[in-house]
Amino acid sequence: MPSPYSAARRFTVAFTFAPASDRLPLTELTIARPDDWHVHLRDGAALPHTCADVARCFARAIVMPNLNPPVVTVAHAAAYRERILTAMHRLSLRFEPLMTLYLTDATTAAEIQLAASADFVHAVKLYPAGATTNSSAGVARLERIFPALAAMEAADLPLLIHGEVTDQDIDIFDRERVFIDRHLAPMIQRFPRLRIVLEHITTREAVAFVRSAGERVAATITAHHLLLNRNDMLAGGIRPHYYCLPIVKRRAHQQALLEAATSGHPRFFLGTDSAPHRTGNKETRCGCAGVYTAHAAIELYAEVFEAAGALHRLEDFAARFGADFYRLPHANGRITLRRQRWQVAERLPLGDDFLTPLRAGETVAWQVVAAHA
Ligand code: NCD
Ligand code: ZN
Repeated sequence: MPSPYSAARRFTVAFTFAPASDRLPLTELTIARPDDWHVHLRDGAALPHTCADVARCFARAIVMPNLNPPVVTVAHAAAYRERILTAMHRLSLRFEPLMTLYLTDATTAAEIQLAASADFVHAVKLYPAGATTNSSAGVARLERIFPALAAMEAADLPLLIHGEVTDQDIDIFDRERVFIDRHLAPMIQRFPRLRIVLEHITTREAVAFVRSAGERVAATITAHHLLLNRNDMLAGGIRPHYYCLPIVKRRAHQQALLEAATSGHPRFFLGTDSAPHRTGNKETRCGCAGVYTAHAAIELYAEVFEAAGALHRLEDFAARFGADFYRLPHANGRITLRRQRWQVAERLPLGDDFLTPLRAGETVAWQVVAAHA
């Protein structure tokens, strides 16, 4: 009699959920088309490459505004969106870019109202000045943006936060935790209805904060913060392609993120923070921050969820919870992932240069084999 354990098994999340006791390895997984709630597409010659990777599997993507110069007005966002759509049109790519504005000390309440009434702007991003790549125009003193935050609260336009303090005297591994204590906790008191996404969380303190903060505070979690801890980056040699901000933390924090992402809690959802940099700008004396994952994004999350025994929770995390928080309909379409190892290229094109993607020259366990609009 054939053993049921030898049979290849297909799995469609929409129709059936694997019972917790079911330990059969899945070979195929079909889920609703996911969205990426945090991505860096860059501009110009990079767009064909970054957009092609996002369009592989995502229906929509929240597009970060940290260009140089940054996207600070609705007019800038409209022009940037047109450049993205033009690049996509040339390659017949399809996903919906959801635009964001970059908050500065000079952002007016009137600009916020304009953003809230523009159907293509979905959020405003707060970068503390100097916190990360292209953040020098960010906010130096939070008090200065209180009028803009009040306007966002009134218009119900979500605030996205890079949650790290920038003080040189605060250890880089503590900067997220200190930001939460010093700035985020008072901010949610002062603006009790402002909806906030704490982006790319990296600590158990951030997980606990989001869990306790109530309905209006959510967080995105990247694939690389689920896959890596600081030993991966620093033990036995320094790996510049794992360097990003917020920096990957110790294993206990990674485990808190894993638990949050796979828990089924609706206020933790997918945001890759895929951030392309030329390889030459990372493999240098002072390498810049950012990990590129868009070439294998949903596949890397599938690995993580599978290892946690939670593949049946991937669809909510990747395709539902983010849209619910942003008050958008769930996307149409489905994607199918197959469990088949494939090798990531050593380098990928980025405009007229190249980047080194996560897993360069190594393998990924899942692969998207079909995507239907
Ligand atoms: C991002 C980038 O390169 O734009 N880098 C990063 O390390 N995550 C900026 C950001 O999201 O912090
Ligand atoms: Zn980012």
